[in-house]
Amino acid sequence: MTTSHTRTVRQCHESEVYDARAAELAATVRDEDLVVDSHKPPYPNREHVRFLDYMFAQMGSLAGKRVLEIGCGSGTLSTYLAMRGADVVGIDVSEGMLALGRRRAAANDVSSKVSFRASPIETLDMPDDHFDVVVANQVLHHLELAAAMPNIARMLRPDGVALFAEPVLLLPNFFRRLRYSRLVLRRFPSRADTPDERSVDKDDLALIRRAFTGSEVRTFQLTARLQNFRELSNVVFARLERADDFLLKYLPPTRVLGRYVVLVLRSH
Ligand SMILES: C[S@@+](CC[C@H](N)C(=O)[O-])C[C@H]1O[C@@H](n2cnc3c(N)ncnc32)[C@H](O)[C@@H]1O
Repeated sequence: MTTSHTRTVRQCHESEVYDARAAELAATVRDEDLVVDSHKPPYPNREHVRFLDYMFAQMGSLAGKRVLEIGCGSGTLSTYLAMRGADVVGIDVSEGMLALGRRRAAANDVSSKVSFRASPIETLDMPDDHFDVVVANQVLHHLELAAAMPNIARMLRPDGVALFAEPVLLLPNFFRRLRYSRLVLRRFPSRADTPDERSVDKDDLALIRRAFTGSEVRTFQLTARLQNFRELSNVVFARLERADDFLLKYLPPTRVLGRYVVLVLRSH
């Protein structure tokens, strides 16, 4: 279903939610709050550190590379990547978030290295074979994957890499239905921000991987998920994450219980 602006209903829901959030942010944020440290990746919180480090390691040197960030929100990651030398295009369906992104790029003197564009990724019309790196953090579960993935693969250079860090629920459908049953939701409410988002499942993962000729999936956080149920100290959380790395590496069946994946996708 499409609107008169050729956005789907789902894309309109997404922009409404994130425009409202951007308006709240814009009302209070000061330019000094928008400063990004070029020597420290912009981790939103401790949960993201380990898998984002892994994802950044896959990018190699960024100098002169063309990078597309999908679902860039208020532009923190796009700005950081531009400060590391990349030429960045950040796209999002929320004009409000993009306005914050432009402010952030200006506050960090990289407006000439990063441009922000309002478009759903599903219909982004940039040239074929254009980007060395395509990246998104926590975005796939907001997308219409069947349309988005071929479009991303089309814009990626043959020697390029697409990197997605994503929360997943890879258990069989029965458990998925149980997770979203009224009883379980009452005790453990869903953290969804938008009405249509749904965590990536194993069928989505297969669809994503099919759009590329080469794909690797690395899973993160198993016992560290405990932090959803009780507050863990930084030390305990770090220990659990290290134990999880070991389990997820040497006991592959545990991977269906992992909380996050980083997808490394290539088309050559
Ligand atoms: C969970 S937020 C993540 C934002 C940012 N990547 C971060 O880590 O803070 C999801 C973002 O995806 C954007 N989005 C949703 N649907 C989209 C689409 N079809 N194409 C591009 N961006 C989209 C939303 O507007 C929102 O800014």
